Amino acid sequence: MISALRIEGGTPLVGEVKVRGAKNLVPKAMVAALLGSSPSLLRNVPEIKDVKVVTDLVELHGVTVEHNRETGELTLDPSNVSRAENADIHAHAGDSRIPILLCGPLLHTLGEAFIPDLGGCRIGDRPVDFHFKVLQDFGAKIDKQENGISIKAPKDGLKGNTIELSYPSVGTTEQVLLTAVLAQGKTELKNAAVEPEIMDLIAVLQKMGAVITVETDRQIIIEGTDRLEGYTHDALPDRNEAASWASAALATGGDIFVRGANQKDMSTYLNVFRKMGGGLDIRTDGIRFYHPGTELNPLVLETNVHPGFMTDWQQPLVVAMTQAQGVSVLHETVYENRFGFTDALIKMGATVQVHRDCLGPTECRFGNKNFRHSAIITGKSKLHGADINVPDLRGGFSHVIAALAAEGTSNVTGVSVISRGYEHFGDKLTALGAKFEVID
Ligand code: EPU
Repeated sequence: MISALRIEGGTPLVGEVKVRGAKNLVPKAMVAALLGSSPSLLRNVPEIKDVKVVTDLVELHGVTVEHNRETGELTLDPSNVSRAENADIHAHAGDSRIPILLCGPLLHTLGEAFIPDLGGCRIGDRPVDFHFKVLQDFGAKIDKQENGISIKAPKDGLKGNTIELSYPSVGTTEQVLLTAVLAQGKTELKNAAVEPEIMDLIAVLQKMGAVITVETDRQIIIEGTDRLEGYTHDALPDRNEAASWASAALATGGDIFVRGANQKDMSTYLNVFRKMGGGLDIRTDGIRFYHPGTELNPLVLETNVHPGFMTDWQQPLVVAMTQAQGVSVLHETVYENRFGFTDALIKMGATVQVHRDCLGPTECRFGNKNFRHSAIITGKSKLHGADINVPDLRGGFSHVIAALAAEGTSNVTGVSVISRGYEHFGDKLTALGAKFEVID
């Protein structure tokens, strides 16, 4: 695995990359396979670390997994789901946040689950209180232990309920879906997240035999059933990876065709890209994103839950904003601490100020809590190479494209975290003409 790169900047990224299944759907669809009474086949699966982590986890629980990396086909056979040793599960602590989603399926199959202390990107506290709250709503008993949490289902099984989320959390909505489909009776979920990846998970569960109705106003009704079968499904393409390459094209003055990018899931991003002055060529097999050769426009923007501007699009776009002529303002309303990556941009010559105030139309949850969650980016900056260390997945991608946009040499360390969500990252950079060498 690549961990450090020496990047020679100043060359526009030009060429084609392909995106496969979404990092934020594939692991969840893999977990859904545990609910089936027969094997499942998931297609369009990328070779990313998160898939490897979930493969290891479900294998520990007795699922047989076969992954054909060439074709992207992954089969999961849950016939022998069994209890795993806490110590073995704990070996995966810190790798990912997906283990929390195993709760529902394991509670239904085994009556109990153990969740190690969780990992994921360092972009805020990322608590799991909503998850435990909804599991308790289904009747589960939660017990904090050393190194993790033990969860038990009541003897007579989990029961559907009316559940209202205080915030439309993606993971908690998935937790409810993966638990409610085999719970007794009906679950009414209010204030649910409705991201395209959640709609795709609902499609997977429907193929398995679940009855799920998506109503207006973030309401989802799940009618529990006794038995689900395996599924065959093509994972929706990774809109976050596609948007990252699009921002890389703008930041480096490049021209990238993203094969597999899907217009419908990205329309909010495409509007913003166009307002910044980026060129678009939307085709059925993908989208070409290109720098027009003229000055880019600054923007006032805030992140939000779907259908708002996705938080995962923010970090790479900030690099492009450093290359726009004028002042851009970005209010992050999903995570309280997602601007740490801008320190490296400042070191490279960007002008970015991060504020505690809500600098956007929405008064968000972080307004009076002292979190530095609004950024003012003044361009156009001449970026220069620097030695930088990657903080998290999207921040890491942003650092690499900033180094590619900069004049001179940058040494970028901690790059391996990028493989959590970007398939064949180094090969794709090479295909786009990036000048770099692997130094570790
Ligand atoms: N939150 C809580 N308590 C909880 C759960 C969430 O306070 O129990 C808070 C979080 O701290 C955050 C907000 O709610 O401030 C939203 O979190 P959410 O649960 O929606 O996020 P998630 O399910 O943990 C997924 C993606 C993230 C993406 C978010 C928002 C996966 C594996 N991760 O995280 O993806 O940013 O939804 O869309 O699906 C990424 O791809 O780089 C990434 C971080």
